[in-house]
Amino acid sequence: MHHLHVLHTIGRTPMVELTHLQPKPGVRLFAKLEGWNPTGSIKDRIVKHMLQHAERDGRIVPGDTVIEASTGNTGIALAMIGKAMGYRAKIVMPENVYPEIPRALAVYGAEVHWVPAEAGVTGAMAAARQLADDAGGFMLDQFRNPHNVRAHYVWTGAEILEDVPAVDVLVAGLGTGGTLMGTGERLKEVNPATKVIAVEPHPGNQLQGLKSLADGFIPPILDLAFLDGKILVRSGHAFRGARLLMQREGIFGGVSSGAVLHAGLKFAERIGKGNIVLVFADSGWKYLDTNLWSRPLPEHEEEELDDIIWW
Ligand SMILES: Cc1ncc(COP(=O)(O)O)c(C=O)c1O
Repeated sequence: MHHLHVLHTIGRTPMVELTHLQPKPGVRLFAKLEGWNPTGSIKDRIVKHMLQHAERDGRIVPGDTVIEASTGNTGIALAMIGKAMGYRAKIVMPENVYPEIPRALAVYGAEVHWVPAEAGVTGAMAAARQLADDAGGFMLDQFRNPHNVRAHYVWTGAEILEDVPAVDVLVAGLGTGGTLMGTGERLKEVNPATKVIAVEPHPGNQLQGLKSLADGFIPPILDLAFLDGKILVRSGHAFRGARLLMQREGIFGGVSSGAVLHAGLKFAERIGKGNIVLVFADSGWKYLDTNLWSRPLPEHEEEELDDIIWW
């Protein structure tokens, strides 16, 4: 008999074509719906991979405590997968995460530690390391752990190619850089001309899960030279993107998915034809408590304010 386990429900997420948002004939938009993972985000993939490798390398055994700094999704993934694999989870987060996140962590029974909002995820990382030193525990370290990137190389990238064999452009959010680096590497192996485009919050704008490099911290797993470009997105455009996704396609995406859609549509303006794959890291449920879906948006935001940076 086939042995089924909740960990086997991670990955193999759906790929859909956004036909109602198709920007022009010849340019097709595809979206990988990572909100379909068991805790609702792409982070299930990396947490499972990082824990399994730490276990294989003899660095942790069931019963141990695993610590991580997170703006939410990685924390929720660790709390659930930790339960499923027999580990205690301690999550360090900045105080400005969305309110659903600590609620979900309470359900999964994870211990939460806070740092001030201004400290951001960088401050949370320092606090997590301190906690690991003081109280003991294994720090998962998604910003430095090469298995974060590998999870996307082995799984996310391979799955995308099964559904869309010819990818011209990959657009994904930049948090740790794991999605862009791992998925990008896999896609470029098949087609070196594939463009890998990062979506970053415009400095001063908060986009849950994404990180501005302007704060001075470059995740060690991120190689900026590997990227083909980045698009800086303002929160207003991300919210508008998330609403557009719902209105036109019936897809309930999170804030970073809205930002990725906005960036994908921007990129589409610059090309005549091609397949653009968007990675939607989570769905909208966690953001229901915010006014994202109800707040009136200005009629005409100044599109020229978008910053597109190439290198
Ligand atoms: C909602 C959301 N979108 C995008 C990302 C970015 O993914 P990555 O850390 O692989 O760069 C994250 C994770 O940080 C996230 O939580």
